[in-house]
Amino acid sequence: MSFDLVFFGGTGDLTWRKLMPALFQAFRHGKLPAGGRILSVARDEQDDAKYRGWLKERFQEVEGPKRPSDEEFARFAEMLHYLRMDLSQPADYGKLKSWLETRNADTAVLYLATSPHLFPQICAQLGAAGLNGPKIRVVLEKPLGHDLASAQEINTVVRASFSETQAFRIDHYLGKPSVQNLMALRFGNALFEPLWRRESIANIQITLAESLGVGTRGDFYNRTGALRDMLQNHALQLLTMVAMEPPPSHDADAIRDEKLKVLRSLNPFTEETVSRDVVRGQYRAGHAAGKPAVGYLQEAKVPEGSTCETFVALRTEVQNWRWAGVPFYLRTGKRLAARDAQIVVNFRPAPHSIFAGVSQPNKLVIKLQPEDGLELHLLAAKGTGQQEALTPVSLDLDFDKAFAENRVGAYERLLLDAIAGRLNLFVRSDEQEQAWRWVEPILHAWAKDTTGPRPYAAGTWGPAAASALVARDGFSWSEEQ
Ligand code: BG6
Repeated sequence: MSFDLVFFGGTGDLTWRKLMPALFQAFRHGKLPAGGRILSVARDEQDDAKYRGWLKERFQEVEGPKRPSDEEFARFAEMLHYLRMDLSQPADYGKLKSWLETRNADTAVLYLATSPHLFPQICAQLGAAGLNGPKIRVVLEKPLGHDLASAQEINTVVRASFSETQAFRIDHYLGKPSVQNLMALRFGNALFEPLWRRESIANIQITLAESLGVGTRGDFYNRTGALRDMLQNHALQLLTMVAMEPPPSHDADAIRDEKLKVLRSLNPFTEETVSRDVVRGQYRAGHAAGKPAVGYLQEAKVPEGSTCETFVALRTEVQNWRWAGVPFYLRTGKRLAARDAQIVVNFRPAPHSIFAGVSQPNKLVIKLQPEDGLELHLLAAKGTGQQEALTPVSLDLDFDKAFAENRVGAYERLLLDAIAGRLNLFVRSDEQEQAWRWVEPILHAWAKDTTGPRPYAAGTWGPAAASALVARDGFSWSEEQ
């Protein structure tokens, strides 16, 4: 299958830091369909050779094992091309069209790796230039809007030029291998399904913790905050994967219909429940990786006195027969104690214990990063006679080891899916809008609440109020168990 892959924003950070290295991995692993061309589009005046040289240098900043050797880069670079475009000029879309028509590939994937404020303009111009035929797919990178109205606006413009099946909205968390394994665990095995419900599960915790601060992205981050940057998309998408009903098939829409139902079943927030069930925080000076770290307000490009949240934890429920009454706790933040992304399913305790020693409920941990695996925590007998007691043990499955040969990174997977036209791991517009609809009352309540975010020291697990949120139900966060 021949394909053309076009990156708008071809000299931007996302392209050289994430997309090109991911494509290169796909190329190295022999997964990229042969006969492909990659076109980077940007405003700078340069030709293919100069762009290839520039990208080769950028690759020096990519993680060691992901860097190409000179010989590998030379082979990869044969696919790379560059086109100068001014995205406001209709004539320049004509140039793109001519380039694509030079060989009329089976599919052309247009990846908008630009600032999102350009999406409406680019989509409208693509439509006007006739670059929206059935062979064309458009990939949209987050953030897709900053609230429901702006997300709807983007979707309206996208819809004016492209059908829903041509629109690939990226949430790179859906490309992570553990998320695929969560689907496999739930719908490829019969073992867990009878337990995957309120009768057996006490609570579910989704943690997306980062140890890094906002780095040089202070200005972007300050307009965004943890709720929009991580919770509205990544954390909620994970929640839908955990809570969805078994879909009737593996089709994109069968899966996305079920995910949408979960989003629609989430307990809606009111001003009162926001103040009770949502905790926002902002890091102060502390430690990161054993070294002193400054507070958020001292980071570059962060305005004085900013009330932007760098941490959010919340409690919600999925209101349906399967999950009624089961708390779902979601939390994410920057400058936390560790880089750790995981979903913890805490089961209910044994109804009656006949053993001495610890009595600890079972839990299943789906680890997304830094490792990628599954842990099932059980109790086992230790000692003999009078000393016999239960002790916690865990069954560990390390996917990195088990599938070392076939590990595919999130962007690599999603780029290959976009080229192949597989929509399963992309977010449909109605899902995305429903997620905004659900978080909006939180944004509104915070805008009115003058107390601002709660401080937490860099290198900790966030404000104490986040622990209290879970303790109120008689539970604790995974790291406190
Ligand atoms: C991005 C956020 O979507 O995800 C970043 O904008 C965040 O702020 C990143 O750092 C985290 O992704 P990952 O895959 O490194 O956990």
